[in-house]
Amino acid sequence: MVLNKTSNSAISCAQIELANKCRDFSQLLLNWTSTLPRPPGRGLPWTNQTDPYRIWISEIMLQQTQAQTVTRYYVDFIQRFPDISSLAASSLDEVLKQWAGLGYYTRARNLHKAALHIQHELAGRFPRAFEEVLALPGVGRSTAGAICAFAFGQRQPILDGNAKRIYARCFGVDDPRASKRIRYLWEIADKCTPQRNIRIYSQLIMDIGAGVCTPTNPNCSNCPVTSLCYAQQHRKIDQLPIKEKTSKRGTKSVTLIMAVDRNNRVLLERRPQKGIWGGLWSFPEYSGPNREFNAWLEKRFDVRATTFDKWPMFHHDLTHFRLHITPARVDIADLDDKVNAAADVAFVAVN
Ligand code: ADE
Repeated sequence: MVLNKTSNSAISCAQIELANKCRDFSQLLLNWTSTLPRPPGRGLPWTNQTDPYRIWISEIMLQQTQAQTVTRYYVDFIQRFPDISSLAASSLDEVLKQWAGLGYYTRARNLHKAALHIQHELAGRFPRAFEEVLALPGVGRSTAGAICAFAFGQRQPILDGNAKRIYARCFGVDDPRASKRIRYLWEIADKCTPQRNIRIYSQLIMDIGAGVCTPTNPNCSNCPVTSLCYAQQHRKIDQLPIKEKTSKRGTKSVTLIMAVDRNNRVLLERRPQKGIWGGLWSFPEYSGPNREFNAWLEKRFDVRATTFDKWPMFHHDLTHFRLHITPARVDIADLDDKVNAAADVAFVAVN
């Protein structure tokens, strides 16, 4: 058949080519499983099971944290909160305590909120419909896809960071316009997602992203789709995926006050719900001038400092800015019991 060169036929030609390449891509990937010594999932504790609750917890933890780190937290979290009802019956503080150290605490707050919603509005049953899963707090399109694919075997595309990298390289997705690029990547993800073996396919994409098509030094000689890979053929591995232009990270300087009383108790305050480490207990943060420190301490906590010893500054990187932290050790002689009356202030014994 000869196609005339109207724009419509040109589009459909490109579409057919894309559909064929996507079909070959998923075929090669699925065929590859038979050569593997064990099923996809790298023996990680959330793989090869279909409990939607457990899959949901793992996918939320994996949103911003590497699998190796997640493993430890996941096992303890599931032990502490084995199902929706135990999570919904716990206070947010208990959930945050279990989450402590994983970072991005909004994830824990959303998990708790979603558990309450499921328990009270959905009769304690994890939703099965994609749209309902997507409506849960903290669940975006890719996470909803992963939950529905792994838990219910639904044919849903996934486009997490790993999948984006693989598709961008293999299909040469280099449009500088971010929204166009993302739309095209979703189209590719959808076309590549097979009708059957959805769990295996989804896990393979994640495994290849984590262990083969890595951000730097990918192991192309071990990649099942290297014969299709645009970046490999055009020597553009280092240029793909296109790096997002990151706005220059700002900096913020704070002094964290380690105030200790005569009984070796440390002063902590609960941070405001909004902002970094929202709702968590931390050393009080001071950002005013040195000369106003004593007045601030007295006004805020009703205590007076007898010493003030600044320690060397260090930094801690957050998503949008770098925090310059100066710890300051402060001795408090005249601890007044009143400090324990405030709900957002506590003296905690250190051993
Ligand atoms: N990243 C996100 N989901 C994952 C999964 N199920 N296994 C490994 N890495 C992942």
